[in-house]
Amino acid sequence: MNNETEIDIVSANALPDEGAIEINLRPQALADYIGQDMVKGNLSIAIKAAAMRQEPIEHVLLSGPPGLGKTTLANIIAKELNSSIHITSGPAIERAGDLASIITNLGPGDVLFIDEIHRLNKTVEEILYSAMEDFALDLVLGKGPGARTVRVDLPKFTLIGATTKPGAISAPLRDRFGLTFRLNYYLEPEIEKIIHRSSKILEVKIEPGGVKEIAKRSRRTPRVANRLLKRIRDFAQVKGSGVVNEDVSRRALDNLAVDTLGLDESDRRILTAIIEKFHGGPVGLQTLAAACMEDEDTIADIHEPYLMQIGFLKRTPQGRVITQDALEHLGLAAKQSTLNI
Ligand code: ADE
Repeated sequence: MNNETEIDIVSANALPDEGAIEINLRPQALADYIGQDMVKGNLSIAIKAAAMRQEPIEHVLLSGPPGLGKTTLANIIAKELNSSIHITSGPAIERAGDLASIITNLGPGDVLFIDEIHRLNKTVEEILYSAMEDFALDLVLGKGPGARTVRVDLPKFTLIGATTKPGAISAPLRDRFGLTFRLNYYLEPEIEKIIHRSSKILEVKIEPGGVKEIAKRSRRTPRVANRLLKRIRDFAQVKGSGVVNEDVSRRALDNLAVDTLGLDESDRRILTAIIEKFHGGPVGLQTLAAACMEDEDTIADIHEPYLMQIGFLKRTPQGRVITQDALEHLGLAAKQSTLNI
């Protein structure tokens, strides 16, 4: 990253210390959750039906790019079910014993949220199968020839898994989720509503022009919108009258090197590398990452999903390819004749 002062301003991944501020802004009920209407509608039916039958809802898998509200939704589901939520993540559950201790502490109807569930290791994942399907845990006691398994019954619970990489989830695990939902990038008017709501909570004075300007540059991602709002509030306080209007928003975002489509230095570096160093592509992820000194996962999980969403990048079996729209946005259309596209 060569933009040292503003690292990751539009990264959809949560930044260190961001969790606490995000929590204030997170809606607590499905009715306050803006956007993702299809997911909300289907979840609401599942929750009501389960309540009528006095049963826990089926296990839920939430997938989609980072920052779109998977954790928020998991918390809301637990609240709507009047259940306690236990939160962990795939990489945090290292050994079978870690999972056993979490799962045997669940109460009837509790929600277990596993973030980044695609990163569970195989041994842990296999133990999860019987826990999800039969509400039982098969534990191996001892080692070697004397080892024996015992089956421990568990209360009926609901597992909510979240993943940015649904393709990396094995079929046996995927099949054990009764409800699977994919979160999509938000529509701009939905992001505007979220900015409006957050401004009220944070007591930020904001004008409609400010809301619009921030929404345009938020990568259709609530986490990014809320982060930009806070930075622009600071800018308005120091450089303006404290009111977030269109002009202040524009100047602040320009200062943060976030362009009119929400692209940052890293996005531009990735796109420019494909154009300048690889004739517009195709180029493999590893080669591209090395050429622009970025981490492969950061490119694949954070930058590419949005660049593909806005039609600036295509993934082909041969590698990543730039598009005409990207060239025009970067002001490099004249280069087209020298490229493979
Ligand atoms: N804050 C973050 N995501 C949100 C959403 N989907 N609705 C309302 N507020 C939010």
